[in-house]
Parts: sequence; structure tokens; C-alpha cells
Amino acid sequence: MINKQNVTKIVLGEQEIPKFWYNVVADMPVKPAPYFNPMTNELLSPADMQAIFPMELIMQEVSGERYIEIPKEVRDFYTSFRPSPLYRARGLEKALGTPARIYYKYEGGNATGSHKLNTSIAQAYYNKAEGIKRIATETGAGQWGTAISLACNHFEMDCTVYMVKVSYEQKPYRRSIMNTYGATVYSSPTTLTNAGRGILAAHPDTTGSLGIAISEAVEDAATHGDTNYSLGSVLNHVCLHQSIIGIESKKAMEQIDEYPDVVIACCGGGSNFAGIAFPFLQDKFAGKKVRCVAVEPKACPTLTKGIYAFDYGDTAKMAPIVKMYTLGHDFTPSGIHAGGLRYHGDSALVSQLYNEGHIEAAAYGQLEVFDAAVLFARTENIVPAPESAHAIKHAIVEALECKESGEEKVILFSLSGNGYFDMFAYDKYFAGDMVDTEFEMKESERALEMLPKVNA
Ligand SMILES: Cc1ncc(COP(=O)(O)O)c(C=O)c1O
Repeated sequence: MINKQNVTKIVLGEQEIPKFWYNVVADMPVKPAPYFNPMTNELLSPADMQAIFPMELIMQEVSGERYIEIPKEVRDFYTSFRPSPLYRARGLEKALGTPARIYYKYEGGNATGSHKLNTSIAQAYYNKAEGIKRIATETGAGQWGTAISLACNHFEMDCTVYMVKVSYEQKPYRRSIMNTYGATVYSSPTTLTNAGRGILAAHPDTTGSLGIAISEAVEDAATHGDTNYSLGSVLNHVCLHQSIIGIESKKAMEQIDEYPDVVIACCGGGSNFAGIAFPFLQDKFAGKKVRCVAVEPKACPTLTKGIYAFDYGDTAKMAPIVKMYTLGHDFTPSGIHAGGLRYHGDSALVSQLYNEGHIEAAAYGQLEVFDAAVLFARTENIVPAPESAHAIKHAIVEALECKESGEEKVILFSLSGNGYFDMFAYDKYFAGDMVDTEFEMKESERALEMLPKVNA
């Protein structure tokens, strides 16, 4: 056993990369609600999904198996960047003066800068294996677009990315890196799809949203036989692939005889949160005491202010109808800098677990999140992605509570990505030009009037 007092970083060996992903569905006390077809409002069958997804991923989407084997080709690629390091945040602890021990799993150290590569490489692999030539997808912050561009390049497939307009304009170098990996990138909404044209006609000045970009990518995939759609979050199979984060975290913490009191992650579509939290929830379902907290922006507070209902996964009602926390499928959140957290809905699994009280949620404004990001950069040296900084903010809140109470809690969070392509946002923060955009409750109430009625 390594003495935890002396450890700053734990890096597992390559041979310890997990051979199986963990599927939380197997341990959920209540089984997940089914999906519904957005055209008919009837139950969605695996055959309905075949127009846009490969069969292996569809089977994973509906699987109740506890462990699913990671294909050798995916594990081989994982060796280029996994296991990711687990750090003890000694600098941050010292700055806060907390008795808590803070650890973070750093997913931003790979070529693309975020956790998204864990699933993009798996999704590209399954699509390639079933003869698909091109992937169409959306991207918010650009992290997912980058990860799927690299994965398509690796498996020699073409890649078309619909990038949310506000990010396309704020992050030109994200676009360049996707181009470098060979992807074609469009500012969404475009005039290339019915969905995009419809939105532009109704809202010519729209900043775009993940919901709109998803509609465009789904339409592209559904109307081209050689093309499939790939989603960077939300779906069960994405949460499954991300479980590698939590499985590795547990193994690394075991080496220093630590176990977290609280596990924290930012939550956009929910896959990053699911990735680190679900393997710990497995323990919780078996009787262990651990809290899991999903952190979201106050401007897009899906879990904390949304309602739990069946809704479309996208704005143009092309993606499956899923029971989830939602702000309404055509709610467009204000243009905050954590672009990857601007999604109207949330993973069905994360939503159900929250609804049943197994996990918690918190929401913060972007100014306090950037305060936390800068403190972290100055004490831990890594410049965090604005999305990940939401988790940092909550970790700080927990650590300061420990300072008050004197408790030596163990805090673990996912540092899901680095912020080196987000310097536009940091510049705005330093110039004093960043504002706290409020949640537009009235806009969400309007959007929630348009929820679908399913034939359940
Ligand atoms: C760095 C980073 N962290 C977290 C997220 C949100 O991830 P998820 O959709 O898995 O919740 C994103 C999404 O783009 C991201 O780029």
C-alpha cells in the first residue's frame, strides 16, 4: 500500500486499463423507462434506431448486463492515453485551508483535451465494423467534435460536425483542430438541412443550441445510407463507455486506501457525471456510504429547475422521446461559456437516479465558476475547461464546509477537460466583461408547454 500522505499523483499501469465497462442499469432498483419513437409516439424498437446507429450500440443502449467487454481494438487505442492520472489537489487544499482531501481524475490530458475520447473511439469502432463510411454529429463546446473527428480519422471514416453557432464563432481553433483531423465543420443552424432552415426562418438571429445541432446531424444521418449519427453524451451507451473513468478512479484510490465521501462532476448531457459516479453508485446500491453530486450551470439548470417528463432529445423532434429532466426541447439557453453544458435535457439514467434520490444536483453562475477555475489554475496549474470548472466550484464548496466543521472528508471530482481552447472566455472574465446570465424561466415554461404525449 502506498502511503496517501506522500502521494500527489497516481498513475495505474497499462495492464490495469479495465477490460469491461460497467452498466448501472443492472443495479438500478427500478428499471429505466423505454424510449418512444418521435414520429409515432409509440415504443421505439431497436429496428427504429437502425437508421442512424449500428446494431452493437443499439444492443448496448437497451442492455441490462452488468459488465460489457471492451473490444480489443478500443482497448488498444485506450493504451495511448489511459489510464488517466488521479491527482491529489494539494495546492488547492492549501489555498482553501481545508482539512478535506481533494482528488481529481484528469480526463483532459489526452490529444483531444476531454473525456469525450473514451466514447468517440468506441462509437467509431462499432460503426466502422458495420460498414459505415461517415459519421454526422453535433458539437457544443467543440470537445466532442474534436474527439469524434480524431476517432473517425483513426478508423478511416469521414466526419461531418454541426457546431453550435455561438461556439463556432467563439472558438475558431476548435474548428481548426477538427479540420486537422479531416472533419467538415458547419456553424449550426445551417441551410443544409430542413431542421436548420426551419429554425433560421423562425429565429434568424439564433445563437444555436445543442438541441438544434442534434436535429441537423440526425437528419443528415437518416437521409444518407452510408452515414450514421453519433452522440457525445446523454445515451446509455455513452454513459457506459465513460464508466472507465470511475472504474479507474476506484482502482487508483484503492492503492492509497482512500474512498470518497463525495463524488462530483459537471453535468451537461450527463455522460461525464455518469462516467465517474456510476461505478461508485454500484457500491452505494450494495450498502456503501457515498454521495454523488451532478453540477450544472444556473443558466441551464436542467436537474435543479427542469421537470421530469417525456421529451424529445432535440429541437426538431427527430431524436427519440426519452423520460428525463428537461427545460423543454426548444428551450435555447443563454450563450454561456460552458457550451458543453447548454443542453435542455439530461441522460435518462442520470435523470431517473436523481428523481429517485440516489444522486444530488447543484447549480452555479458562470462568474463564481470562473472564480473557481482561476483559483484552480493558480494552485493546481491546469487551466480547466469552463464545463469542468463547475465541478471544481462544487468541490470547493464541499471543502469549505469541511473547514467549518473540521471534517476530513475525501472529495473526488472529474476534471473532464482542459480549457486551452477556451481562452476567449478567460479573456472576457479578466476584462470584467463576463456577466451572469440568468435562467430564462418564462422561456422554459413556454417550451415545456410543447412536451410530447407518448402512448405509454
Ligand atoms: C470538458 C467538458 N466537460 C463536460 C462536458 C459535459 O459532458 P456531458 O455531456 O458528458 O455531461 C463537456 C461537453 O461538451 C465538456 O466539453
